[in-house]
Amino acid sequence: MISDNIRREADGTLTFAGHSVPVLAEQYGTPLYLMDEERIRRNCRLYLDTFRECFGSEALPLYAGKAASFKQIYRIMKEEGMGIDAVSAGEIHTALEAGFPPEKIFFHGDGKTDEDIRCGVKHRIGYFIVDNPEELEQLAAEAAEQGIVQKVLLRITPGIDPHTYKALTTGIVDVKFGVPLETGQALAFVHRALSLPSLSICGLHCHIGSQVFDESVFEDSIDVMTEFMAKLREEFGYEVKMLNVGGGYGVRYVDSDKLIDIPARIRRVAGHLKERVQELGLKLPFFLMEPGRSIVADAGMTVYTVSSVKRIPGYKYYVVTDGGMTDNPRYCLYGAHYTVLHADRETELYAVYDLAGRCCESGDIIQPTVKLPEDTRRGDHIAVCTTGAYNFSMSSNYNRIGRPPVVMLTPDGSYLAVRRETSEDLCARDL
Ligand code: LLP
Repeated sequence: MISDNIRREADGTLTFAGHSVPVLAEQYGTPLYLMDEERIRRNCRLYLDTFRECFGSEALPLYAGKAASFKQIYRIMKEEGMGIDAVSAGEIHTALEAGFPPEKIFFHGDGKTDEDIRCGVKHRIGYFIVDNPEELEQLAAEAAEQGIVQKVLLRITPGIDPHTYKALTTGIVDVKFGVPLETGQALAFVHRALSLPSLSICGLHCHIGSQVFDESVFEDSIDVMTEFMAKLREEFGYEVKMLNVGGGYGVRYVDSDKLIDIPARIRRVAGHLKERVQELGLKLPFFLMEPGRSIVADAGMTVYTVSSVKRIPGYKYYVVTDGGMTDNPRYCLYGAHYTVLHADRETELYAVYDLAGRCCESGDIIQPTVKLPEDTRRGDHIAVCTTGAYNFSMSSNYNRIGRPPVVMLTPDGSYLAVRRETSEDLCARDL
């Protein structure tokens, strides 16, 4: 199986995190997002344990909430001792509502509005990750106005290509994020930031991309960033205290994807950082990473019910479901691959189908060319695996379709973390 929390039982039914998928589909209805809570916690611990081993007990991996943001996930992050990366006032609000400690929130984003900045300062969130000079000035003014010194990391674009989907590449020179090193703008950015008394410049941030498998991407960004740290010391006598190298580890969606050994990778990155700072005579900075996908992706599964099976002889077969691009836009956006399984039975006789959604456009394909039983029919359940990251969080109400609930699975049972969106919810803001 694509992930070791998925199993095919002797009677042909699929289980996820030890629970029968067809039974859950009947109990909660479909489309349905399932989340394996133990897996989320285990993935957090892979980071936490390895960070502590490499950097001491204070080390703090951050969960990138953009991958999946709802109250229960922040409660889990709080319990596990993770920090979080938030990208909007909405994510911050959700985390605070869940009781997440504001001082462990790192506020990201290249388009923060005055309102966002005011909100972050007002809630005394731990750190702003400042993306650009305009934000820097506005934040300095807001912090001065509210009479605090705001802790800040500065986002730098290191100029590294992670070889992933173009839309997920963030570290090359001409992206919309951060301030580039290559052009000399980053140096001026840090210089200006250091002159602002209402800001405490704690360090630097960079993020190269997402769904990255390249072995050396983090080492490469550490090389670039530590050299920049040395330059900052030389030019301004400034010592970087924190270094955040972002998120990005890829996960397995299909058999051909590698399984990344995260602890082994982190140990290598830590070793590399220690070597580099020693060579350059720098102090070891407080090290941060902000994984999203590798915390929640393999903890997720989406379950659909088949609405129709369309066989166009000599052309194409479709399995049409009760969900689609509204709950999973990733194939439409990126051509992303998924493993698709029949949740009710196995067979010797397969056909190849495009798994389609219910939206009124031909492009509403969840996944093309998937192998499913030849006799797949209305009422059957279909599971799409590894949907824990960027599915719920990127879902929409296109065609006025309500979003599925999120059901958490534990060894003892299951519970709703987000209820299904109703037609009333859809009209709630209409006047
Ligand atoms: N930090 C920053 C600054 C980021 O921009 C991201 C992801 C992360 C951390 C977390 O990266 P991860 O560990 O999840 O790879 N919607 C796309 C993914 C966009 C990623 C955006 N930034 C998708 O569905 O694949």
